[in-house]
Amino acid sequence: MSDIVRIGMLGGGTVGQGVARIIRDTAHTIERATGHRIEMGPVLVRDASLGRPGIDPSSITTDPQAVLGNPDVDIIIEVMGGVDPTREWLVQALRSGTSVVTANKQLLARHAPELLAAAEEGGSELRFEASVCAAIPVIKVLRESLLAAEIESVMGIVNGTTNYILTEMRKSGMAYAEALTQAQDLGYAEADPTEDVGGGDAAAKMAILSSIAFHTRVSIDDVPHVGIDQLQGDDVDIAHELGFVTKLLGVARLVDGAVSVRVHPALVPGDHPLAAINGADNAVLLESSIVRQIMLVGPGAGGTETASAVVSDVLSILGSNPGSFLGGALVDAGRPMAQDGSLDSAFYLRIDVADKPGVLARVSSVLSDSGVSILTVLQRGEGEAARLVMILHRGPESRVTEAMAALRALPEVRDEPVLIHVVGDGQASA
Ligand SMILES: NC(=O)c1ccc[n+]([C@@H]2O[C@H](COP(=O)([O-])OP(=O)(O)OC[C@H]3O[C@@H](n4cnc5c(N)ncnc54)[C@H](OP(=O)(O)O)[C@@H]3O)[C@@H](O)[C@H]2O)c1
Repeated sequence: MSDIVRIGMLGGGTVGQGVARIIRDTAHTIERATGHRIEMGPVLVRDASLGRPGIDPSSITTDPQAVLGNPDVDIIIEVMGGVDPTREWLVQALRSGTSVVTANKQLLARHAPELLAAAEEGGSELRFEASVCAAIPVIKVLRESLLAAEIESVMGIVNGTTNYILTEMRKSGMAYAEALTQAQDLGYAEADPTEDVGGGDAAAKMAILSSIAFHTRVSIDDVPHVGIDQLQGDDVDIAHELGFVTKLLGVARLVDGAVSVRVHPALVPGDHPLAAINGADNAVLLESSIVRQIMLVGPGAGGTETASAVVSDVLSILGSNPGSFLGGALVDAGRPMAQDGSLDSAFYLRIDVADKPGVLARVSSVLSDSGVSILTVLQRGEGEAARLVMILHRGPESRVTEAMAALRALPEVRDEPVLIHVVGDGQASA
């Protein structure tokens, strides 16, 4: 690459403006460190009439080809979002030999194989650090520092909005709806929070992380996800009383050589490293027998934080040759996806039942018929009803699924039983 490296940018919104500012303010430092002078070139937007602090107005364009078909552009930064037409544009750029840096998790979680194939064809690079956990350099750590660490599990709080809501529910006893409104008022949640609270955002990030960690191709369609929108304040409170903290977790692990990736609420023992991650912060806990545990923590969103990860990817491209060993982590080792139900887990089970003699014995016997054993029981009478809360011993999830079907059929069971994963073996101390 020549001494002057020209950037073309698709998108000039929150992140794009942050990128332009960082490049302008750190140009000298970057030139001293890399020998390359980075210059901002054309920036594609939809509405050219809007003011965009940090971006030179003369570089604004509404013509995609001013970026994509421009022979003066050396690296393309994609910060416009969306799957179409972004996918087609990036494939075109990568195939023609232009390296791309993107922050677009939804695109990568769906179309990484096609984009990587286009990069291979064009001898270009695709970098996407900003697509997961903003400024936390988790992808770089996985694909460079821990390339040979044989990662066995990736467990993460990868959505700041839901972590903020759960933290408020636990700290101030707020109901879910109230905590969500507060998060929206403070700008931690979008007006339409579905992607965040329904677990789709975390599932996209876990698809990307597990693809790198396990050298395989995981799509968002391979990641079953349950969000926090069905979670009840009562369960968060009871879990807290029992010594657990409720989190929305992304859990990816290798099970007998197959890959299992899921997103769901989980009870985390109070002294587990992830229990201490509060507010809108993100954290990713990486485990392998070689490195034991490594946890990366930091802000998981924000225009400047995300822009910083984008600029760092540009520097990585300057510092590495296409086709170098760094491509190795993106090789597809062809691992299969694990079958649902083939995993072990401990569980929190809450059942509201009619307060009649012998109910606890009947529930216990249904669980025991399916081979599920109980670690802890809490029973509370509430008038005509009773509430049974149990922590179930770690065991095959398929047995718990079978027991749930039988429990729903008991005449004494009043509402849908609540089942939440518990991290570890069910003890409140990790
Ligand atoms: N903001 C964050 O904290 C954050 C964190 C992590 C990842 N990301 C990712 O970063 C990307 C950018 O996010 P953002 O917050 O900067 O979004 P944003 O503020 O909405 O900016 C998007 C920009 O792209 C332009 N754009 C969108 N579609 C276009 C199209 N079809 N043709 C031309 N221009 C188009 C928009 O133009 P107009 O301005 O004219 O509408 C705007 O300038 C997304 O993929 C997002 O998921 C963001």
